[in-house]
Formats: sequence, C-alpha cells, structure tokens
Amino acid sequence: MKITAIKGMNDILPGEVELWQFLEQTAQQLFGRYGYREIRVPVVEKTELFTRSIGEATDIVEKEMYTFEDQGGHRLTLRPEGTASVMRALLQHRLYQQDPLLKLYYKGPMFRHERPQKGRYRQFHQIGVEAVGSAAPLLDAQILIMLWDFGQAIGLPEVELQLNSLGCDQCRPDYRQALIHYLQQHQQQLCPDCQRRLHSNPMRTLDCKVPGCQPILAQAPIMLDHLCGTCEEHFQAVRTALDDVQAPYSLNPRMVRGLDYYTKTAFELVTDRLGAQSAVAAGGRYDKLTHDLGGPDLPGIGFAMGMERLILLLQQATTPAPQPRLFIAAMGPSPRRLAFKLLHQTQSQGYYADMEPENKSLKAQMRRADRLGAHYVLILGEDELQQDQAQLRHMASGEQQQVAISGMPQNLWPVLDATG
Ligand code: HAM
Repeated sequence: MKITAIKGMNDILPGEVELWQFLEQTAQQLFGRYGYREIRVPVVEKTELFTRSIGEATDIVEKEMYTFEDQGGHRLTLRPEGTASVMRALLQHRLYQQDPLLKLYYKGPMFRHERPQKGRYRQFHQIGVEAVGSAAPLLDAQILIMLWDFGQAIGLPEVELQLNSLGCDQCRPDYRQALIHYLQQHQQQLCPDCQRRLHSNPMRTLDCKVPGCQPILAQAPIMLDHLCGTCEEHFQAVRTALDDVQAPYSLNPRMVRGLDYYTKTAFELVTDRLGAQSAVAAGGRYDKLTHDLGGPDLPGIGFAMGMERLILLLQQATTPAPQPRLFIAAMGPSPRRLAFKLLHQTQSQGYYADMEPENKSLKAQMRRADRLGAHYVLILGEDELQQDQAQLRHMASGEQQQVAISGMPQNLWPVLDATG
C-alpha cells in the first residue's frame, strides 16, 4: 500500500521552500522594525479555547475544527487560527504586566477541515501579528500600514486593502435587529444557508456568494450606517491617519469576518487572482476577547496572512524576461567569427547581449532580435567588414548609425550606455 499525505495537507519541497523562507525573513525584519517580537505557541489547545473565542455559531467551530479526545479523555483541537492561542498565552503568563502594549508575531501551521481547492487547504500556514493593550485608532492605522508595507516588501501584485467597522456591543445589537428585520421581509428569496444564518449569525449572510441572494443583500442595511458615536469617531480617526500617509484602501461595508471576536475595525487584503479565495490576509480589532477568555480587559488588534496564498500570488506575478541591450546579426563566416568575439566582449563588459548560433538569414536573425526585445542590433556582413563600417540599429525608433568596426568594441559602449 502506498501511503500518501492527507488530502489538503501539502509538502513544501526544496525549490519551493526558499520562497517560504523569504517571506518569513521579510516578516521578521519588517515586523521587528515596528517593535513586534516572536511568540511560539502549541499547535494543539483545549477545544474550549476556540469555541469561546471564535464563536459557537461560526463555520470554523461548527464544522471545520480537527477535534479529538486524547488518551486522558481531554477534548483537544488542532488550532484553526493563532489569535486565540496567543491571547491564552499572554493571559496565562501575564505578559501584559511586563509591557502595557504587547506587540507579538507568530508563524506556523493552522488546521481547518474545509473543502480543499486552490488557495484553500486543511493544513495551511499563517504569519500573524497581535498588538494588545491599546484601543487607540493610531494602532489600527499603524498595523494596516505595516500590512501594506509587507505586501510592498515582498512585491505582492495587485492587492486591495479593504476596510470596514463592525461596531461594538453598544451599536451592533441594534444593527443586528435591523438586519434581521430586513432579511425576514425577503426570507423566501434567500438560499437555505442564509435562511439558517438569519437568526444564528445574520451578519454572515452578507458574505453569501449565491447569485439569487445578491440583489437582496445589496439593499441590506450596513453596519457603517449604524455605528454609535464612539465607533464612528474611532473609524474616522483610523481613516484620517491612513489618509495622512496616503495609504491606499477602500471601504467594503459588506465585509464580515468568519470569527466572532471582532469589534470596530475589520480589514482584508484581497486579490481577484485566486478565484473564490480572495483574502490574502485579514484581521481586525478585538477589544473584548481577553475579557471573554476570563482575563482583564485588554483591547487588541491583529491580522494573519495566508502564506500559501501569498506564495501563489508571487508565483503568478510574471517578471518580464530581460531584454538584450545588443543583438548581433551576422552573415558569412568571417562576420560570424567577429560577431562571436564581439558578443563575448560585450557580455564581459556587463551587458546582456545575444546572437543567433545557427547560420540563418538576416531576416530570421532580425525576427529573433525583435522577439527578444533587443534594444540595438549590430548588422555585420562581408561588405561591412571590407568597408570597416557596420550598421547599428536602434530597434524602437528604427534609426541606424554607422560604427567603425576597427574601433569596436569600445565605440559601442557610449551608444549602449545611452538611455532609450
Ligand atoms: P482568517 O480570516 O480566518 O483570520 O484567516 C487569515 C488568513 O489565513 C486568510 O485571509 C487566508 O489568507 C488564510 N487562510 C484561512 N483559511 C485558509 C485555508 N483553509 N487555506 C489557506 N489559507 C487560509 C484569522 O485567522 C485571524 N486569526 C486573523 C487575526 C489575527 N485577526 C486578528 N488577529
């Protein structure tokens, strides 16, 4: 019997692992510059930690956790995310007594029993950060900017930072009622999932992808119109700070998060290049989480990035092929020998240069130069050799100039160095 890896749990092979190391090293350096220090927590925790923090009525807790009983009869779970474990650790070790504003980051595997597809796995990896001990909107803005900086540092292509506020215990219940009231009026047109969520977790309906639900959800009331004074002020202050440094973001009033601990600011870094798995990173504020876990009130905010998704995006980003500065087209034995020598000298000088190794027609060689995107083509034939004059063509403009063969290669450098 051939034993293979478990579905949705992947090996990371040599050749791939270098990109992982690059992401991890970049995170360590960049987050370090913002004052974040690494914390390592176990992969297995008591099940209760996740049910209490993530929320009973979430997809994660309802159907995606790897939960089992160990030999001692304890109910344990492979962590589906990192925030709950980090909060557990900082409460258990009272880290908040050492530092009123704790800035922590972590990395490692997470486990969710989801249907595997591109960008969605059962064992996946996150790099996450948590800042705990301040409710100040400047902390939200700083963390958002740090996430954006990370994207820039690794060269993440075409992502959008989306922002929303999910309110607090003061304003969310009223909004919830308004949303339920609206959804009830259209209950018949909603999909079975939305009908079920209508009472258990009505805000999750806003996330529904079923086409039939869209016209109804598009008209649904939004949290941003129901924020209390404190949440409104907080959200505006976050936006102002982001605007002050011209950080790019857009509002997504329909963004809801799959975990219940969020309050106020919520955000996602999204792409449209990964099909349904649009969130590359996501997070938000969780001002009540430590209290809900039996600790003191410690407002906090954080995010986690999906490493597999970051890597998929980086692999998709097509880096344009380098273009030769010079292509040498030569016809006849003597010109080809000269071309070969000149090619070597040009390359030794530090330029990317190329020529056709086969003895092909001028037309075929020019086609090749064009396909490679060569900036200049040097044309060498028997006549040129006799007259000590070769044509140097600038491909973009089509302009040609005469260059003395006896002065080569030195007389080529000024031309190749010029911009254009
Ligand atoms: P999350 O939105 O559940 O948030 O996950 C964060 C990121 O992990 C997602 O945006 C995605 O990139 C990646 N991810 C999630 N599930 C999978 C999967 N099955 N396969 C591949 N990648 C996945 C959290 O986990 C929160 N703990 C984030 C946070 C930190 N909030 C505050 N602090």
